[in-house]
Amino acid sequence: MAVIGASRTPGKIGHEILRNIINFGFKGNIYPVNPHVDEVLGLRCFPSMREVPDQVDLAIISVPSRAVARVVDECGASGVKAVAVISSGFREIGQADLEKEVVRRARRYGMRLLGPNIFGLVYTPSKLNASFGPLHVHPGKVAFITQSGAIGISLMSWTILEHVGLSAVVSVGNKADVDDADLLEFFADDPNSSVILIYMEGLTSGRRFMEAALKATAKKPVITIKAGRTKRGSMAAASHTGSMAGSDEVYRAAFRQTGVLLASSVEEAFDWAEALVADFELRGENLLIITNGGGAGVLAADASELLGLRLMGMSPNLRKKFRALMPYYGSVENPVDLTATADGDDYYGAIHAAMGSDEVDAVIAIYCQTPYTDPTLIASRMIKAMEGLRAEVRKPLVICGIGGVEVEKALRMLEEAGIPAFPTPERAVMAMAALFKYYEYREEVMRKTSEN
Ligand code: ACO
Repeated sequence: MAVIGASRTPGKIGHEILRNIINFGFKGNIYPVNPHVDEVLGLRCFPSMREVPDQVDLAIISVPSRAVARVVDECGASGVKAVAVISSGFREIGQADLEKEVVRRARRYGMRLLGPNIFGLVYTPSKLNASFGPLHVHPGKVAFITQSGAIGISLMSWTILEHVGLSAVVSVGNKADVDDADLLEFFADDPNSSVILIYMEGLTSGRRFMEAALKATAKKPVITIKAGRTKRGSMAAASHTGSMAGSDEVYRAAFRQTGVLLASSVEEAFDWAEALVADFELRGENLLIITNGGGAGVLAADASELLGLRLMGMSPNLRKKFRALMPYYGSVENPVDLTATADGDDYYGAIHAAMGSDEVDAVIAIYCQTPYTDPTLIASRMIKAMEGLRAEVRKPLVICGIGGVEVEKALRMLEEAGIPAFPTPERAVMAMAALFKYYEYREEVMRKTSEN
């Protein structure tokens, strides 16, 4: 890798990108380029790309926009395979011709170009953080493509808090060359990514996106947050990344046709990603809700029905299993109400009974904090129950934990164990609904493919 514009001054963007590449643990060779200095951050610095004594796969360009075209030429002449242009000052400020010229030069050498106007890229399997975002990213299997720098950078830190593991963060900025369709193609085939999440303001080629999305969603879920859906929002997008935000209805139709899940907020998108990235396989539509609080069960039942999820009927066999886990005043209807006295063993038994039953396809387990139960103990019993089942059972389990600091801890324990966990019944149900929606779509695709 090369960083061109690797400033000697801490705080400058080129310096911070180089620091992140080094400190995140990238194992390949790193070549800083800056004509004004011999060494940066302990690495030998080269006056230009032409002096770099190695084949460079990716050059990060962090010099003012007026110097980018020349630097791109140098990269091309030196055999660099791809460039990522951090610099702002192109189409987004009316300099579309300069942007076209930079792309033209890159193409002349057969180089792909990411950006311009980006904060960089991260790929956790290669321990590569070539961004001026935070150093640490929670590693995982969600590939995050973002057209917004601020959203991308802030969510990188937020994912650590929320335990959403990322395989990649790619800032696409003005998408002058590499666009969402290219990245969908890459991540659809990337074994290190199981869910693709896109923050999008506008598309450069709708047709190409739809073709790539259709192929990608047949392999893994694609979630989109589409910004600029209102008049004022699309005006803001135009001055942010120079994007044409387009008609909301057209985007909705395109996403529906291609199986892309459209989230209405950042929170929803990441909740869905958390559920979809878990190692689940949905085989039917029989949903069971287990709770220790009647009210939370009612809220979950309402949310399920409103989102088109059908709560399954209870067979005598299932009723019998759950009856043994609750006092006489509990309920063996769906939602199953274990009552407020339910402890870790009761949850263990209930999850085992539900997840182990052929009648049940998906489970939402709700825990409301009570004075006489320990949320972290309950979480550890839930995890234990799943560990026992995981070898054969891949049906979805989503947890809702409602309460204070101890419940928050319990939710984190569950997430670390790969079990999606949310603080409200509605969020748990919405995450489950996204799972249902994706698997229904994929089943339909598979059915049509086998018919043809
Ligand atoms: N080759 C190599 N190094 C060079 C060259 C060159 N041709 N020209 C200059 N340099 C060196 C400079 O000497 C300097 O190093 P020094 O500090 O040791 O002297 C370094 O490269 C950087 O050059 P500066 O002129 O100091 O530029 P600066 O760092 O101030 O700004 C930057 C460059 C960051 C690219 C700026 O122009 C810019 O575009 N900033 C915005 C970036 C941004 O916000 N991107 C979008 C993110 S948000 C989103 O995604 C929508």
